[in-house]
Amino acid sequence: MHIVLGVSGGIAAYKAPDVVRRLRDVGADVRVILTPNAARFVSPLSLAAVSGHGVIVEQWGDSGHGGVDHIHLARWADLLLIAPATANILAKLAVGIADDALSTYALAHRGAIVVAPAMNTSMLQHYTVQMNMAFLRDRGVIVLDPDSGLLACGDEGSGRMPDPPVLAEFVKQQFAALDLEGKAILVTAGPTREPIDPVRYISNRSSGKMGYAIAEAARRRGAKVTLVSGPTAIPAPAGVAITRVTTAAEMHAAVMEALPAQQIVIKAAAVADFTPVSVSTQKIKKQAGEEEKTLTLKKTPDILAEIGARSPRPFVVAFAAETDSVEASAREKLVRKNADLIVANDVSDPSIGFDSDQNAVTVIARDGSSTNIERAPKIVVANRILDLIVQRLG
Ligand code: PMT
Repeated sequence: MHIVLGVSGGIAAYKAPDVVRRLRDVGADVRVILTPNAARFVSPLSLAAVSGHGVIVEQWGDSGHGGVDHIHLARWADLLLIAPATANILAKLAVGIADDALSTYALAHRGAIVVAPAMNTSMLQHYTVQMNMAFLRDRGVIVLDPDSGLLACGDEGSGRMPDPPVLAEFVKQQFAALDLEGKAILVTAGPTREPIDPVRYISNRSSGKMGYAIAEAARRRGAKVTLVSGPTAIPAPAGVAITRVTTAAEMHAAVMEALPAQQIVIKAAAVADFTPVSVSTQKIKKQAGEEEKTLTLKKTPDILAEIGARSPRPFVVAFAAETDSVEASAREKLVRKNADLIVANDVSDPSIGFDSDQNAVTVIARDGSSTNIERAPKIVVANRILDLIVQRLG
């Protein structure tokens, strides 16, 4: 693994020596490029010491390659990791500005690019930053979701760089073999919406991030992925066949239609268990003096249980979102719905699970064994879940 670590000028740059160390721990050879602003936060000398190589800071520096260090390095590198990635470097990457050693190198680099944005929450949420991140994602750059927590400026929110061991594990995951090559995998993601009338519906807080991360990771590992998605704000991952649905009944129909071609089904969607018995064609009006209203609901089709009951059936991975007795409830669902694995998600913690960029889960198998996957960005958790599936399938 030949990694170029690009460090741009945010406070998290002080973690760069640890990032280098963790990358080396997972077997990478690391060369570092610092922007001049990053060099205010972390010393090139420290990075040279931990990486075992000279560090590039100057755009016009010459380390014996006639002023074309960036071209020379691009021939060597497999992956460029920019961590932390500031709003400035994201903007430069998006439009192709090359006014320092790192942005110039990024234009010459031909391998995979992973960026770990880290900045204040308001900056992160600014529409130009969001637009640049969306643009880069669209062009195949892997944009890692930042962590949430206390930021250097004292604010609390999203914008922290993922911890160095998490970054190193993610980079290592990018070099995993194409161990799902040729496998047909169906992933469900997001919530369902059960209409009450033309303007109201019953739904839940699922954002779709977990399911989309699994779809994305499976595709990168060579799988032929079909994603059946409830309403989400996430763009379709490249190279994945996506069917967008709204209700549980529509999700049921889309899954059943795609099912015969699948070898693996991963059900990360949060499907409504109940739907209104009747849907009003007009907006329901509040009647004078009305203090209470009753909505009658009926059961939706249990898609997972129906797949589990089929014979033959694909390898089935269920999810269980629980607020209490998490593992016991998940084990009960694993057996009742006849799945092969179940991913137990403790959704009582608002910083993981529903609508968060991070997750932490326990994967339970039919033989009773379980594996804890520690808190990490959903893409890292997705790859760990896929590792367990690959192991089980032998
Ligand atoms: O989307 P995010 O914001 O990233 O959040 C991720 C998540 C929390 C939604 C995800 O990690 C998760 O836990 N998904 C399952 C949520 C859920 O609905 O769990 P459940 O315990 O209610 O359902 C158990 C299983 O049965 C699930 O695999 C579900 O897809 C399936 N099911 C449920 C009802 C139904 N009618 N049909 C189903 O197939």
